[in-house]
Amino acid sequence: MDDFVETLKSIRGALAPEQGQRLRELAAEVKEGAIIEVGSWRGRSTYALSLGSREGNQAPIFAIDPHEAFTGIFGGEFGPQDRAAFFRNMLKTGSWENVRLINLSSEIVTPGWTLPVGLLWIDGDHSYEGVKRDYECWVPFLLPGAPLVLDDTIHPEGGPYRLVGELEAAGWRVTERVGKVAVLQRD
Ligand SMILES: C[S@@+](CC[C@H](N)C(=O)[O-])C[C@H]1O[C@@H](n2cnc3c(N)ncnc32)[C@H](O)[C@@H]1O
Repeated sequence: MDDFVETLKSIRGALAPEQGQRLRELAAEVKEGAIIEVGSWRGRSTYALSLGSREGNQAPIFAIDPHEAFTGIFGGEFGPQDRAAFFRNMLKTGSWENVRLINLSSEIVTPGWTLPVGLLWIDGDHSYEGVKRDYECWVPFLLPGAPLVLDDTIHPEGGPYRLVGELEAAGWRVTERVGKVAVLQRD
């Protein structure tokens, strides 16, 4: 665990170690389908997913991020320099072995997608329109009972907070919260 935390913290990002640890465990539990990450930035959560999958059942990971100039709703600035850092971090952590970067905006990817998804982690555009779009693009591929995990769900002004409320009303259950990260499931 200590090595994991040190390595995680060496990658710039806002995911806390306990949240990374939970993603690692969820990735290890995936027995069927791929792991989808929407929003990779410099690869902090990608590393957690990669390690978990290698410890578990070798589910392939698809990391989706255009790495283009983008300003998040909470003021975060992102851009092509993150692509270089992502590659460096994938090499440094050995995550290149099972992580496939799809360097495109999420909604461009799904029209041609065919693989089932065993874990869906959404941490991209936190505007309501952005997170709802990502959810709607990817949820048709999510296997029954597979976890949907959302970041930044505790700020009432953020899109993920609003989306979680809508999903609960629509029959999803929040099965777990690790700080700002929420895990949801439906039967
Ligand atoms: C909060 S960061 C992700 C943090 C990352 N998961 C980590 O653990 O450090 C948000 C990322 O979403 C990406 N993003 C923004 N719009 C996107 C879209 N339409 N599809 C995929 N990624 C997107 C940004 O480029 C940025 O890198």
